[in-house]
Amino acid sequence: MSESIRSVEDLSLEGVTTFVRVDFNVPLKSGEVTDDTRIRAALPTIRHALDQGARVVLASHLGRPKGKVVPELSLEPVAARLAELLDGGEVRLTDDCVGDGARKVVQDLRDGQVALLENLRFHPEEKSNDVDFAQELGAGCAAYVNDAFGAAHRAHASVSALPRLIEERAAGFLLQRELEVLEKLRADPPRPYLAILGGAKVSDKIGVMEALIGKVDALLVGGAMANTFLSAQGHGVGKSLCEDDKLALARSLMSAAEEAGVDLLLPTDVRVGKSVEDTTADDVDIQSIPADSMALDIGPQTEALFRDRLRRAQAVFWNGPMGLFENPAFAGGTLAVARAAADCPGFSVVGGGDSVAAVKQADLASRFDHVSTGGGASLEYLEGRPLPGVEALKP
Ligand code: 3PG
Repeated sequence: MSESIRSVEDLSLEGVTTFVRVDFNVPLKSGEVTDDTRIRAALPTIRHALDQGARVVLASHLGRPKGKVVPELSLEPVAARLAELLDGGEVRLTDDCVGDGARKVVQDLRDGQVALLENLRFHPEEKSNDVDFAQELGAGCAAYVNDAFGAAHRAHASVSALPRLIEERAAGFLLQRELEVLEKLRADPPRPYLAILGGAKVSDKIGVMEALIGKVDALLVGGAMANTFLSAQGHGVGKSLCEDDKLALARSLMSAAEEAGVDLLLPTDVRVGKSVEDTTADDVDIQSIPADSMALDIGPQTEALFRDRLRRAQAVFWNGPMGLFENPAFAGGTLAVARAAADCPGFSVVGGGDSVAAVKQADLASRFDHVSTGGGASLEYLEGRPLPGVEALKP
């Protein structure tokens, strides 16, 4: 992390109303939080602030309500879960993130008490990085702490405009740890350094692929994005998801890798199905993908190929599933990569919703050196793009 950014430990918080931006964008089902990892990840910062005697005002977005109140995206279940995690301590949820009600809750806070502002994205001004809205959000707060790594790549009011308005600003422990880990990969990775990229689209990963080609020793590509590369090499990919308008780009990424002496490893076999709902999978070589089928996972030879590379890696970064992981018939490749990355002797980092879900499903999270709470944010950081949430903390 940049030396010039202060840590929450550097701020004097006793009796100070402190705005803490967290990323409580967690999955919900029937009004319950189904994965509280992101809430737990922010606890060290919240506890530290409370122990110092701060009056803590937490704020987060939840989902993408497009600037309108969507009752299903209320932070109410999150407030309830947070209260449990804080050993039954009270968490006052405001009715809105700005306005008289919120102001009153914030004013009434005593030292060591917590309030949670309602979903920031119920207001369009959050996403448009509106300074007046930021001013209103932070009314009454004399310190600002960002612990929302997952949202650090968004130039939104609570992440970008607001910290610039508050002199006493710092990074929380979660944000610091994420930046430290990713900086190690960006600046000085142990070698061999491998990146595994998956997911649906090459177009989502262009920037990071270009950046990684200059850094890694090998780039392992799976998921539907691999189909675009296979098609660019002249293989028929049947009915598979494939970005036909990105074939030239795929070719240029392959030549860039070759010129840089980086091994770009694509699947040599795939698991195919007739549709995404198919409950049985057939393993075929990439030369023989049937015209009426879709490649929905990497095949067993590819698993072995990737496993062999991972066995020798000293650093690994993984983002994106190897196939249609949500369908058990096509989850095998992603789970195999999860196990191989966990077994790798080097420094292992995983980021991104589906890959992290696979790691958790296989109960492997504790065997990674770092499980990032931010998918998009970790990719943008590795790509070398300044993160608005980090930039705004600088003096
Ligand atoms: C995430 O879930 O990746 C972060 O909370 C950011 O959410 P967003 O992609 O909706 O901005």
